[in-house]
Amino acid sequence: MIPIETYIGNLILTEQFKNIHGSIVECGVWRGGMIAGVAELLGKDRNYFLFDSFEGLPPAKEIDGYAANAWQNDKNSPLYLDNCKAEMSFAEKAMKMSGAKNFKLIKGWFSDSLPKYSFDEKIAILRLDGDWYDSTIDCLTSLYDKVNKGGVIIIDDYYVWDGCSKAVHDYLSKKGLTAKIRQSADGICYIIKD
Ligand SMILES: C[S@@+](CC[C@H](N)C(=O)[O-])C[C@H]1O[C@@H](n2cnc3c(N)ncnc32)[C@H](O)[C@@H]1O
Repeated sequence: MIPIETYIGNLILTEQFKNIHGSIVECGVWRGGMIAGVAELLGKDRNYFLFDSFEGLPPAKEIDGYAANAWQNDKNSPLYLDNCKAEMSFAEKAMKMSGAKNFKLIKGWFSDSLPKYSFDEKIAILRLDGDWYDSTIDCLTSLYDKVNKGGVIIIDDYYVWDGCSKAVHDYLSKKGLTAKIRQSADGICYIIKD
């Protein structure tokens, strides 16, 4: 799903954080293409966690903006992709192909699965790709504090969907954080945890 330039940009950015200790987490996995690429890059000995409903996106709300609602209503568009619905087996196969030994797929809505999930170690790389406001803020609320100092939070949809950028602003503002919203040379949005 991710354009090739953005895909490579994600790998280049991820590589800069390979020495940070901790797990690799992606929220919003679809068929697992991006996280499997990350796993191939970072190696088989890291711990990978893949969170997704595996039922597609929840309904967009007004806060997600006109474009998000228009996209979700246009079910005949070739970009609709069955509302980003994918069977778990795709991501599982992609992760096996990456060579990763330690990976878990956690099925469920972020609001249910994330608050109760307990990790054995901090998170080094957190990739958020859940598109909408609620999805993004649910991830930040549950996982931001679990990211290791010097670790990275990559926000796939920051420049794409209004709800995603608003969720990031609202979360940082609500918590009174001064973290900088950065952009890599390839145009990828990220935050370094301080
Ligand atoms: C754009 S796709 C992810 C693309 C993927 N990272 C890739 O490498 O191709 C968005 C994914 O987020 C998931 N998603 C969005 N909001 C969610 C939520 N609140 N709870 C669980 N899954 C969610 C959807 O099921 C979908 O698989």
